[in-house]
Amino acid sequence: MTVPMTVQGWQDRYAGSYMNTFGPPRTTLVRGEGCYVWDADGNRYLDLLAGIAVNVLGHAHPAVVEAVTHQLTTLGHVSNFFTTPPQVELAETLLGQLGGDGRVFLTNSGTEASEAAFKLARRTGRTTMVAATGAFHGRTMGALALTAKAAYREPFEPLPGDVRFVEYGDAGALRDAVDDTTAAVVLEPVQGEAGAVVPPAGYLQAAREIATANGALLWLDEVQSGVGRTGRWFAHQHAAVTPDVVTVAKGLGAGMPIGACIGLGAAGDLLQPGNHGTTFGGNPVACAAALATIGVIESEGLLEHAEKVGDHLAGGLRDLQHPLVTDVHGAGLLLGVDLAADIAPAVTRSAQAAGFIVNDCAPARLRLVPPLVISYDQVDTWLAALPAILEEASE
Ligand SMILES: Cc1ncc(COP(=O)(O)O)c(C=O)c1O
Repeated sequence: MTVPMTVQGWQDRYAGSYMNTFGPPRTTLVRGEGCYVWDADGNRYLDLLAGIAVNVLGHAHPAVVEAVTHQLTTLGHVSNFFTTPPQVELAETLLGQLGGDGRVFLTNSGTEASEAAFKLARRTGRTTMVAATGAFHGRTMGALALTAKAAYREPFEPLPGDVRFVEYGDAGALRDAVDDTTAAVVLEPVQGEAGAVVPPAGYLQAAREIATANGALLWLDEVQSGVGRTGRWFAHQHAAVTPDVVTVAKGLGAGMPIGACIGLGAAGDLLQPGNHGTTFGGNPVACAAALATIGVIESEGLLEHAEKVGDHLAGGLRDLQHPLVTDVHGAGLLLGVDLAADIAPAVTRSAQAAGFIVNDCAPARLRLVPPLVISYDQVDTWLAALPAILEEASE
């Protein structure tokens, strides 16, 4: 008889075999269904993190399972010497969501989407990039050069140069930094990794105007905020701006690795044959997952649901009027909860012990990015449990 492995058993094997880039895992998950996941000891958790804004349809959604299974048993991979129907359909669908003409380059991740966009920007012939404080665009060298956090950057310097950082949300600072050497301004419409930071009203419109006035591209990184998370396909659609470049990943495949760099208008023609490539990007199985994901978001009305259930969650958090909760911000189901003290890691631990998976993205900030299919009842379970979790964490 084989003895089932426990969480501790897996953690020990992980410690002996896996590179220590993430620190010790919080637990070992073995199964997921809907908004719940189970660990190797059989404990169930309500997943308010969704693989960091990835599992937009929860876990094991039948439509994604069916699409992936069908595609894998039909045609699992071809090289980019060829195309496949799911690849073309996905490119057209993404362009349709953005309401414009353009061209799509498919990747396997958000950071690869950033790399494609960075290279696309260099094809303007300009080299300066303008990015924002608090920004996160990925961990590969180009994306890292556009990522503000010193702790992520410094061990790997020198990074690709010519990047100017400006205060996120400050249109005046952006105006001062952008000039006729700027290839692109890169911004997250809502900063995800920073913890659901929403810029002031009018900021994205100002960025559009500043980029246009200087002949620079406006690249909006929707890797975390896209795929319906804020109640629109893309968060910038709340502000009605038209970017030149959009990057997306995370939720696009509802758990299958896929990302995209989308060039709108003339920006779609900047990368030419030989300028960029990928073996797996555009893989038909990942594309089929993305098409199924988009189909379910449409058929189940999840854009509207994300906005409404997100408002319910944000409102419920505010209504707690808990002295340890000082602010709730974000949009739709991309929410940040500010705490009165540096107890976010302790809150994450207490929440897990109480059966909830959340994320501390800063010492005093929680990030909540649950599946878009989360129900009002599931949100209420979390709201009911939170006061005791906060109390335990602050002891
Ligand atoms: C806005 C944004 N861009 C890029 C990335 C990088 O994506 P990935 O981790 O898939 O490489 C992330 C990941 O958190 C992100 O939030």
